[in-house]
Amino acid sequence: MEVLGIVGVAAGSISIPLAAVAASTAVVGISQGVNGQQQGGGGKSAAEPDKSDPRIAKFNLVAECITPVSSPGPSPSKLVHGKIVVLRKGKLYLDAADPEYRIFSDGHPFSGFYLEYPVGQKPLALVSTISRDPPELNWIYADDDTLELKYGNKTASMNHIHGPWDWTADQRAMMLEDWEGFVALEESPGVWGLYYDQDDDLLESSGIADGRRVVECSLQRRLEAPKRS
Ligand SMILES: *[C@@H]1O[C@H](CO)[C@@H](O)[C@H](O)[C@H]1NC(C)=O
Repeated sequence: MEVLGIVGVAAGSISIPLAAVAASTAVVGISQGVNGQQQGGGGKSAAEPDKSDPRIAKFNLVAECITPVSSPGPSPSKLVHGKIVVLRKGKLYLDAADPEYRIFSDGHPFSGFYLEYPVGQKPLALVSTISRDPPELNWIYADDDTLELKYGNKTASMNHIHGPWDWTADQRAMMLEDWEGFVALEESPGVWGLYYDQDDDLLESSGIADGRRVVECSLQRRLEAPKRS
């Protein structure tokens, strides 16, 4: 059984026995029968989902990249503008919104919401499903060394920048550590990975850009249509 911390997500709402999440060793999982009973959680029954809390509404992420770029020549912003955030191989990438034009066959579109991180200062954090089936949740974080945006379990995310995540005043775009410091880096031709531009210099001083193209991106939240059942 992969599901350790039992978090039920049903139709855009969530039952979060936070105590159970905190007690789980690592993975935050979603029980597969999403409308079913909560199990485990140390005998604690799940709290009623607070459907009015907009932080738990599920959303996808779309890159909006219309700002100037570091390298001269034709603007590569167009290459990534409008692409969606997908999860694959432990990292966040940009890929075509239309499945027919995707370059990654293994990409899972980001589908997540805000959730309190269970340790430390308990910052507002971010989770996403990592596959359709099972609909397991992982934490989204920025790698403290490489500044890549990644996903992983609690152990993996703990010593990296896992929050606070938030939204902008209009609730439309993502913020990490109180600002929109996201960039896409062309890791290899046509492959754009997402990074946290911690020094606000398009990954220059850290040496991560290393001559490759870097585009500033706003990560726009697109609320998922509520599922009816
Ligand atoms: C958490 O993720 C790490 C890799 O990042 C892995 O080695 C470890 O087994 C995972 N723990 C659990 C409980 O799945």
